[in-house]
Formats: sequence, structure tokens, C-alpha cells
Amino acid sequence: MTISSPVTNAPAGATIISARDVHKSYGSGQNRFDALKSISFDIREGESIAIIGKSGSGKSTLMHVLALLDAPDSGDLELDGVDTKRLRGRKLNRTRNKTFGFVFQQFFLTGSNTVLENVILPMKIAGVGRAERKRRGMAALEQLELADKAKNKAVNLSGGQKQRTVIARALVNNPRIIFADEPTGNLDSNTGAVVEDILFTLNREHGITLIVVTHDEDLAARCDRRIHIRDGRIVEDSSEVAA
Ligand SMILES: Nc1ncnc2c1ncn2[C@@H]1O[C@H](COP(=O)(O)OP(=O)(O)OP(=O)(O)O)[C@@H](O)[C@H]1O
Ligand SMILES: [Mg+2]
Repeated sequence: MTISSPVTNAPAGATIISARDVHKSYGSGQNRFDALKSISFDIREGESIAIIGKSGSGKSTLMHVLALLDAPDSGDLELDGVDTKRLRGRKLNRTRNKTFGFVFQQFFLTGSNTVLENVILPMKIAGVGRAERKRRGMAALEQLELADKAKNKAVNLSGGQKQRTVIARALVNNPRIIFADEPTGNLDSNTGAVVEDILFTLNREHGITLIVVTHDEDLAARCDRRIHIRDGRIVEDSSEVAA
């Protein structure tokens, strides 16, 4: 597999995301639910981090906040030392698109569109021209060994092929961080291992920071660092245990 290197602005190992006393709740009044409570930690460029914890503990909420898909209610979140409150509207969209790749199950493929059409969508949002979109889309599909499926409707792919298509889509803008929420959750163990290997190749050989929510202990063990969430708080961070 050949994968082009991401465009990196920060030196390896520099802090890329910093969260300080981040709170996030859903609903209001009696229905208010505090999903994240005083979350503080730093993510360094090139790290692989597993976010672990029980169902409902706040893992996906944390991913959404870190990925700037959802704003914290209070606290500070910095990306490359820039206060993310300063990023709004188009600037926020562009930054998110340029910096992050998403492997989320909620970000479904559009079944009636072709595999290639699905993969080039983030570039369309980012305003990349048609010819360049096709070139980069096909290159990403080749990397994931899906070039022969480019014209197939996404609905006709196998589960593992769909997940690889989602990874191809996450790669087209050369992201610095890949956010993956249960990337192997719905896959059989062999296909899951292939997807896992692709993610770690991107991390180890290309320096892409990997932040992955998982219930899979083996996948969590392969990451440099494990952050355990319980009831919206970080209760354990393996980097602090090791330090
Ligand atoms: N839009 C919402 N409105 C109200 N409550 C919500 C909303 N989204 C999430 N929650 C609640 O916030 C808590 C954290 O949810 P979250 O999706 O982050 O959990 P999770 O750790 O990802 O769980 P899972 O492992 O099941 O995916 C849960 O109790 C959930 O019910
Ligand atoms: Mg979740």
C-alpha cells in the first residue's frame, strides 16, 4: 500500500489539540445531561490514542467536540495553539475538512452514489476542482485496493469494502488527524484486522494522528495511549501512568 504523506505544519510530537476543563451537556433544565465534565488533556501529533469506556460514558461526544463538530459549553479547546472559539462558519468548515478525516458510522455512504462519488465528497465541500477530485479520489481508492469498485454503487459493497471506502474518503484531503469511532465494530475479525492495519500504517508510517473509540481490547492495546472515560470524565490516561 502506498499512501502519500499528509501536509504537516507542526513538528513531530508537538501538541496538536489541547483541551482544558471542557464541559458539554445535552438538553436543558430537568432534562439536562452532563455528558462531558471537566475534560483536560493534550494530544500530540503522531500519537495513536484509544478512547475507551462503557456505552453512554461520553466517548462519541468527546470525539465530536475534539473534531470541532460540536462546540463545548465551557472550557478551552485549542488546535495548533489557536482557540477554536475563533473558528466559525466557513473558516471552521475549511479547517475541519483540511485537518481531519472521519471514520464514523453516522457518516454513512450514500448507497445510490458510486464509490468514487462518495470518496470525493469532502473535496467537493473543500472546493477542489473536478479533475483534481477524480485524480485524488482514484488514488485513494487504489491505496485501499478498491479502484475496481470505483463505479459500483456503494450499496453493493461488502461491509469491509464499505469501511475501506469510508477510510478512502477520510484520506482524500491528506488529514493530520483521523477520528475513528468503532472502525471495526461491525466487521468480522479478519476484515476488522485489515481495517485496523490500514489505520496503523497511516499512523506509524505517515505520522497521521489516530484517535479511535473502540470496545476492542486488542485494538486499544495497539495504540500508544489509552484514555478511559467514565460518566463523562477521564478516569485513567495511560500516558500519565507511564510518565
Ligand atoms: N443529543 C443528545 N441528547 C441527549 N442526550 C444525549 C445526546 N447525545 C448523547 N446523549 C447522552 O450523552 C451520553 C454520552 O453519549 P455518547 O454517545 O457520547 O456515549 P458513548 O460513550 O459514545 O456510548 P456508545 O459506546 O454506546 O457509543 C449518553 O448518556 C447519551 O444518552
Ligand atoms: Mg459512541
